[in-house]
Amino acid sequence: MYFSSPLTALAAALTLATQGSAFVMDIYDSDNCSGPARSVNVWDNTCATWMGGFRSYAPRVYGGAHQKSYFFIPGNCGDLTSSLNSRWVDGGDGWFQTDHCYNFGNGRVVNAVASYSG
Ligand SMILES: *[C@@H]1O[C@H](CO)[C@@H](O)[C@H](O)[C@H]1NC(C)=O
Repeated sequence: MYFSSPLTALAAALTLATQGSAFVMDIYDSDNCSGPARSVNVWDNTCATWMGGFRSYAPRVYGGAHQKSYFFIPGNCGDLTSSLNSRWVDGGDGWFQTDHCYNFGNGRVVNAVASYSG
């Protein structure tokens, strides 16, 4: 398995040790996962805003069973009607696979990401 940073590897190890209590992804300011990556750990049943805006992402570690991701554009945590890319993050979704790159298209920037029970 490839990790972009020691912190990503640590987060992955911790996640595996606790049977998947967060999903981990690398996020990018540009499309197509180009440029510097930042590792983000979204814990099950939480919404995270601290990572700031990003335009593409690559999942690295799956979250807990039946957890679903919500990427907020143009809204923010708390308003699921302004989210998109609602996808299973437990590995059971063909559109959320580790080490694949996903864009939001049209230069859209995500403000926050949640992982909730589906
Ligand atoms: C992203 O990749 C697509 C398909 O290869 C390409 O058409 C597009 O120009 C790329 N976008 C950027 C910003 O590099």
